[in-house]
Amino acid sequence: MPIDLRTRLGHVELPNPVLTASGCAGSGRELAQYFDVAKIGAVVTKSVMLAPRAGRPTPRMAETPSGMLNSIGLQGPGIDAFLQRDLPWLLSRGARAVVSIAGGTVGEFAELADRLSDASGVTAVEVNISCPNVEHRGQVFACDPDASAEVIEAVRGRLRYDVPVFAKLSPDVTDIVTIARACVEAGADGLSLINTLLGMAIDTVTMRPVLAGVTGGLSGPAIRPVAVRCIWQVREALPDVPIIGMGGIRTGRDALEFILAGAAMVSIGTTIFHDPSACVRILRELEEELASRGVERLTDIIGLAHEPHPAPGRRLSRSSL
Ligand SMILES: Cc1cc2nc3c(=O)[nH]c(=O)nc-3n(C[C@H](O)[C@H](O)[C@H](O)COP(=O)(O)O)c2cc1C
Repeated sequence: MPIDLRTRLGHVELPNPVLTASGCAGSGRELAQYFDVAKIGAVVTKSVMLAPRAGRPTPRMAETPSGMLNSIGLQGPGIDAFLQRDLPWLLSRGARAVVSIAGGTVGEFAELADRLSDASGVTAVEVNISCPNVEHRGQVFACDPDASAEVIEAVRGRLRYDVPVFAKLSPDVTDIVTIARACVEAGADGLSLINTLLGMAIDTVTMRPVLAGVTGGLSGPAIRPVAVRCIWQVREALPDVPIIGMGGIRTGRDALEFILAGAAMVSIGTTIFHDPSACVRILRELEEELASRGVERLTDIIGLAHEPHPAPGRRLSRSSL
């Protein structure tokens, strides 16, 4: 019997839980030569800002042990080009589009939500609050519960249709649950966990920082245990809030770990740079992992690791398995 992989992105149902991660597959077009983009749960687009942006100076990528650093910045064509060109392309392919937005002020986020409301066919909005608040000494929105809540409230208030809103959080905080709770109370339907960790590398030959921007976001398998911990903590505190989990997922087994921690969906990021068809491979591997454990429905095992350890002889504890 085929495994039921359906999952819920807020009030929207997805056929399966594997998504791209924002910024790692553009707006999906790059992936279309490798697989049918309508086959995965959804394409999460690179964070779009109001105006076109060139991004940061180069070098802006560096390899690190089991990961990479990037300081690309929010390079992109701006919301107008995105709505005219990228979104219609994704929809013409039958893909589900989760649109990621980013801004430097609460007003910019609100304006983006307003502009998105003119477009039809958006499956969900992911609000990237891991960017600096230019009105507040550059403090990252996601590092402050009040600033995070203000952004989510503004986006929710300006969206003119009922589309799920996910807040994407930064792991660079002391207590991620406080930020998660603030976002949910402000109207977020779900949470995306996690964005990159702030890191840095120094070239011992030039004896200078490797990245032109000095610091960058660390991603890849190196951050996986941090992501699993964040998902675990948020699921423990807010068990009914859907989570998109991401951070170093490379295989179907990694995806299963995130689902057991509490993620209802997973996003695949850095792995795509090595393996452009990673999303469909991971989807197939996840299905095999579930089949080998006798799982019939994905929803039966979301957050299962939070349940008490099964009695000897029982591999899984949910009665429905
Ligand atoms: C090159 C690059 C660009 C990224 N751009 C964005 C972005 O535009 N918006 C965003 O929310 N996250 C962005 N991210 C973060 C990823 O979506 C993801 O949260 C993070 O990399 C962890 O997942 P991974 O280890 O599978 O890459 C970017 C990551 C990388 C590596």
